Order: sequence, then C-alpha cells, then structure tokens
Amino acid sequence: MEKRQALASFGALSQETRLEIVRMLVIAGPTGMQAGAIAEKMGMSPSNISFHLKELDRAGLIGQQRESRSIIYSAKYDALSDLVRFLMEDCCAGDPRICTPAATVAACGDPSAKVGTIGELERATALTLQPISGDDADLRTALAAAALPTDDLSEDGRHFFRIAQGADTIGFGGYELHDGDALLRSLVILENHRGKGLGDLATRLLLDMVGSAGARRAYLLTTSAAPFFERLGFAKIDRATAPVAILQSRQAASICPASAALLTKPLVSGPAASARKKSESWNNA
Ligand SMILES: CC(C)(COP(=O)(O)OP(=O)(O)OC[C@H]1O[C@@H](n2cnc3c(N)ncnc32)[C@H](O)[C@@H]1OP(=O)(O)O)[C@@H](O)C(=O)NCCC(=O)NCCS
Repeated sequence: MEKRQALASFGALSQETRLEIVRMLVIAGPTGMQAGAIAEKMGMSPSNISFHLKELDRAGLIGQQRESRSIIYSAKYDALSDLVRFLMEDCCAGDPRICTPAATVAACGDPSAKVGTIGELERATALTLQPISGDDADLRTALAAAALPTDDLSEDGRHFFRIAQGADTIGFGGYELHDGDALLRSLVILENHRGKGLGDLATRLLLDMVGSAGARRAYLLTTSAAPFFERLGFAKIDRATAPVAILQSRQAASICPASAALLTKPLVSGPAASARKKSESWNNA
C-alpha cells in the first residue's frame, strides 16, 4: 500500500462513528449489513450514517452492493489487511516473536478465506452442524414446538443438521437444493438457547454450507422471522419473481402459508467456497 492511500484510510478511520462502523462490518462478515440496520445499531439517523458510509467507501475500506431495494455494505478485508501490513512492514527486522501475531491478523483477509474448511469455520463459531435424518425424533419435536413444517421431512432431497455446541444440541437447520438455488428451512434454535447470537451464527454456517454445495442464491420462507434474516442480508421478494423451481418446492407450493414472506440472498462465492466444495462431508445427510 502506498503512503497516500494509507493516509486516506487512517484519515477516514480517525473518527469515532466511522471506526465503530468498520468494526461492526468486520464482525458482520462477508454477508454485510443493510444501511438501515447499521443506523439502528448505531442509534443514528440514516442520513448521518449515509454520510459516514460514503466517507468509508471513498477511502476504499468498505464496499456496497444493491440487493433488491436495499444497499448492503460490507468490510473490504483486503484493504484492511493491507493497512495492517503497511504498519507492520519490515517490523523489527523480521523477529518472529514480535511479527507473527500481527502478520496472522493481517493474513486473515476475507473471513470466508480465513475459515477455509468446514472444520475451521465450525471452530471459529464454536458450533458444529451434524448431519441427521429427517426422521430424527428431536428434529421433529423441535420443529413442531416452533410451529415449523414437519410434513415432508422424510422426503428425498432434504438435508438436515443438528446444531451443536460441544455436546449440547442448541437447535436444528436444513436445506434443499432446487436447480442451483438453495431453500433454507427448518432453522430452529431451542428456546433456552435463543437470544445469544446462536441463530445468527447457525444461519451463517448454513449459508456457507449451501454455498459450498454450489448454490448461487439462498431462499427461505418465514411467517415471523423476516427481520432476523434481513439483518443477515436477506431481502424480501415478490413470490412471482422467484425461480420456478423454488416456487414448486413443497415448502413454497403447499406447506408454508401464502402469507409467509419469501426472502433471498446471493451467496458469496470465492476461493474458500470452492475449496470447501472438495469436501465430501457436507452433503452426506
Ligand atoms: C429465529 C431464530 C432462529 C433466532 O435465533 P436466536 O438464536 O434467538 O437469534 P440471535 O440471538 O442470533 O438473534 C440475533 C438478532 O436477531 C434478532 N432476532 C431474533 N429472532 C428474531 C425474530 N424472530 N424477528 C426479528 N428479530 C429477531 C435478535 O433480537 C438479535 O438482535 P440484536 O443482535 O440486535 O440483539 C429463533 O428465534 C427461532 O428458532 N425461532 C423459531 C423458529 C423460526 O422462526 N425459524 C425461522 C424460520 S425457518
């Protein structure tokens, strides 16, 4: 990185709100956040936040992409890593005792690259997704308790997982693949584990998994949790605009009420996702 670029980046970060926004987006990961959600978290007006987002965008520290009617902002991990590298370049004549910790941080890059295998991602989130059959009794009980559909669990093409933290089951989740797109389904966090950020992490794991399975977009139907998924970059769409294969799924065509919202999100593809495609363990449910 050139000194001029480094000065521009540090200049943009040298302001409390902007520093907090960048930290928030770094934590949010490649799925990013909607401008409205950032404003809400920061307790600031959308116009005020928009000013700061523009400054960070101009400095090349964050990026934006339009999804339906929303703009999603995400951290530019490469630029942030370059900034750390700029500070640490040639440090202490390369003494590894001093350099290694900083070099490790700078080498992280995009967190999806950092967690380059399923096992690494699971370790990073301290959650595991364990394949189970649709006939699993605990899965059925949890879905029924959350008023989620159980009619088609044993049918072909469904993949279900126990979401575990150590030896504890904290919930369940699943997906179906339809013509290159994924339909996420059956996500439930058991009641005594809700409100601790685990649903958020479990959804990211599921998204990573369907991305690794080759899906281009994720879809889901929900009657009560649309805002939860919108925080993760999903956007509501009109059913008429969804792919036919998704509309013809049992979930969309007959099981979920017509009033259920349909949401979608493009999936991040990249080196980490393609590396993970090589793993056999994702789709053996
Ligand atoms: C939706 C569900 C998976 C969320 O799990 P969770 O572990 O409680 O969620 P988290 O703790 O990760 O919540 C993250 C954020 O989303 C918010 N959130 C959680 N559930 C929400 C909902 N139903 N609507 C709106 N926001 C919600 C939380 O308040 C939290 O916000 P904060 O970070 O500002 O505090 C869980 O409530 C659940 O199992 N619900 C029943 C089944 C269901 O509706 N599944 C989804 C359809 S398949």
